[in-house]
Amino acid sequence: MRMKATIRTAVFPVAGRGTRFLPATKASPKEMLPVVDKPLIQYAVEEALAAGARRLVFITGASKRAIEDHFDSDQELEKLLVSQGKNELVRQLRSVLPSYASCIYIRQPAPLGLGHAVLCAAPAVGFEPFFVHLADDLIEGEQPCLAQMAEVYAEVHASVLGVEQVPKKETDKYGIVAVERGSGPVRRLRSIVEKPKPAAAPSNLAVVGRYILTARIFEHLERIGRGAGGEIQLTDGIARLMQDEPVYAYRFEGKRYDCGNKLGYLQATVEHALAHPELGAPFAAYLRRLSRDI
Ligand code: UTP
Repeated sequence: MRMKATIRTAVFPVAGRGTRFLPATKASPKEMLPVVDKPLIQYAVEEALAAGARRLVFITGASKRAIEDHFDSDQELEKLLVSQGKNELVRQLRSVLPSYASCIYIRQPAPLGLGHAVLCAAPAVGFEPFFVHLADDLIEGEQPCLAQMAEVYAEVHASVLGVEQVPKKETDKYGIVAVERGSGPVRRLRSIVEKPKPAAAPSNLAVVGRYILTARIFEHLERIGRGAGGEIQLTDGIARLMQDEPVYAYRFEGKRYDCGNKLGYLQATVEHALAHPELGAPFAAYLRRLSRDI
């Protein structure tokens, strides 16, 4: 019987400047933007924990404090809430980070690109495979996306990229992959290219913010120079990794909200509000009234 491989480390690059959300992201990372009542980064951490990760590595940038504070306990706030009899809120705050998980914060000295951010995690990751989770891609599915990918990893024992089909005209916003022919959601990668123009794109299968990578990626990220947009691109590192070992694309099940742009963020907010146990019904009633007026 094959041992189930557990991936223990999840890397959360949160050092981008989030220029599409300025001024909201001037003093706080975009991963702290709330969808209803939880910041994006908390959805991300919950997904990683559900997939078995226990060591959480945050690659932070200029405004790192908000994220550290969010995952730290706040004794004063808890005391205040207890004195007000708000015990349910205290319980919720305490469950933000379970005691079996630990956080490591590493500073990315400058926003040199996603590949560089991932490379900054090398000392904390060591030689094991690890998750990379981009919190601005919020994915909802029956089974959390990283847990689906961990099951794929247990079969293939190689790097796995979360992919989905995007409209052809949008290929220049993503890393785009070509995969081997076959059936089923798991396919071996043939090539990967960062933000190709639609006419040059090898397919419309886009890499979204979920990865399982083997530690070998670090050797390649160390060697590659700046690529598209003058940044050190994770896509370029993966293109090199593919020359050494197989890399797989996995078409996950679930709905993705691109919370890195304002429209996707608003869609996530509305749909999560509609699904919220307390807010759902009154919010739906409000939307019905509103839609009659517009
Ligand atoms: P984006 O490409 O969305 O860039 O980064 P950005 O800077 O965050 O946002 P815009 O485009 O200016 O609005 C994808 C992910 O990579 C992280 C970001 O935090 C985000 O999770 N990232 C990007 C880093 O951690 N460091 C970098 O140097 C670049």
